[in-house]
Amino acid sequence: MSIPPGSKSPYLIQLSQVLLDPIGSLDRWSEEYGETFTLGGKKLPPTISFSTPEAIRTIFNAPSDTIGYSQKSELVKSLLGDGSFIFLPELEHQRQRKLIIPNWHRASLNTCGQNIIAITQKIIGNLVPGSAFDVRQVMKRISLEVILEEVFGSDNYLIREQIKQTLISLFELFDSPILASYLLTARFFPVLLEQELGLWGKVRHLQQKLDSLIYSEIAWRRNQKERQKYDLLSLLATSSDENGQSMSDKEIRDALLTLIFAGFETAAAAMSWMLYWIHYILGVREQVSNELNSSADFTKPMEIARLPYLEAVCNETLRINPPALSTFARTVKKPIEIDGYYLEPGTGIDVSIYLAHRRKAVYPEPNKFRPERFLKKQYSTYEFLPFGGGQCRCLGASLAQYEMKLVLATIVANFRLELIDPRPIRPKRHGIVILPSDLKMKVI
Ligand code: HEM
Repeated sequence: MSIPPGSKSPYLIQLSQVLLDPIGSLDRWSEEYGETFTLGGKKLPPTISFSTPEAIRTIFNAPSDTIGYSQKSELVKSLLGDGSFIFLPELEHQRQRKLIIPNWHRASLNTCGQNIIAITQKIIGNLVPGSAFDVRQVMKRISLEVILEEVFGSDNYLIREQIKQTLISLFELFDSPILASYLLTARFFPVLLEQELGLWGKVRHLQQKLDSLIYSEIAWRRNQKERQKYDLLSLLATSSDENGQSMSDKEIRDALLTLIFAGFETAAAAMSWMLYWIHYILGVREQVSNELNSSADFTKPMEIARLPYLEAVCNETLRINPPALSTFARTVKKPIEIDGYYLEPGTGIDVSIYLAHRRKAVYPEPNKFRPERFLKKQYSTYEFLPFGGGQCRCLGASLAQYEMKLVLATIVANFRLELIDPRPIRPKRHGIVILPSDLKMKVI
């Protein structure tokens, strides 16, 4: 076993550095120890942070019996359900992905583009001109509406509204610093998560309400055999795999919550950064606007999504501020050599999206926002990986990219926004995503 150099601080110190100043810590460690380095304490198996394209290629292409997923937190499990495909052993995980992915694409292609444009127009159009608004909150409203439309479609509008309100109440609880500290403590004392009272009791109560709404919708859709199906829930409720096996109610419920929780805050973070950059760097908004003026037809969303500069702006946003700094953690299961290091089973692997996107050799002047780099060069999936890769690659990548492009196009074509504070913004961790801290704008 050979491992790269790394921090000698105790594990808890490293953990608090990652939580409090994730980007500063990554910059510091990579400067001090080189682009491949080790994290972890004396008594824990080491975790190696990789960011070179060669290492990432090896990790993403390794068979699942050689590099597998690490165990995910009990807390996330108690929120999404233990049947969520992200917690299942590799084979079952892949089986469910195979059921979800084609249905998800069918649902998206059918309805999505026009809905995204209409949702954006409605939400931005309702903002009061001249008043400051919190960009993240507004982008969260857009991304939640888009996912709910994809997942539940427009049937049973009233139930969908109830589901939306319950989710909003749940997300509001998760926004509270008190709950965040409680949950952080609960990581070390899981018994706290069994409490029926207090804040966690409220979470449980909202979860139960959400479950009863979702299960009644699943039952309704399973009975609507003759209906045209365009939404993910109906497609999942009525399809089966190559062995004729369909998903159970609980598997569907857990899968839907996983998609909603995984997709809503990440997409909102990406869109917040995108609005920041196009208004912060002189000339970018104007170039997007010129491209739209010369060739955009809003009745053909797929064509808008193919506009090269618009795409370059979205990609450069995801490069410079990837909402997820790392992929999901992986673990070595059989000895393997990566980047010249011989790793034993049990070693943790962290693929650093942030550091891969800041490599000078691939992205000259990596700290500068330059959409043009994506017009001049095609980057490999081991150099540009905002959605991870391999067997865990993000299920919502196509939807998220489509959504980013159409939201940006709709805003630039119809509204004029301005930053309240023109100074550079600081990145801030919120749960698993990195957001522009307190970004405020106004419609003028
Ligand atoms: C800009 C927005 C988004 C970003 C940056 C993002 C990023 C990621 C990343 C880095 C992973 C881990 C991949 C890995 O470990 O290799 C992931 C997984 C996942 N994402 Fe996304 N995501 C976004 C939007 C979405 C959306 C909109 C959805 C669904 C509606 C979604 C659903 C998922 C799911 C279900 C997984 C777990 C996949 C699995 O374990 O099989 N994501 N995402």
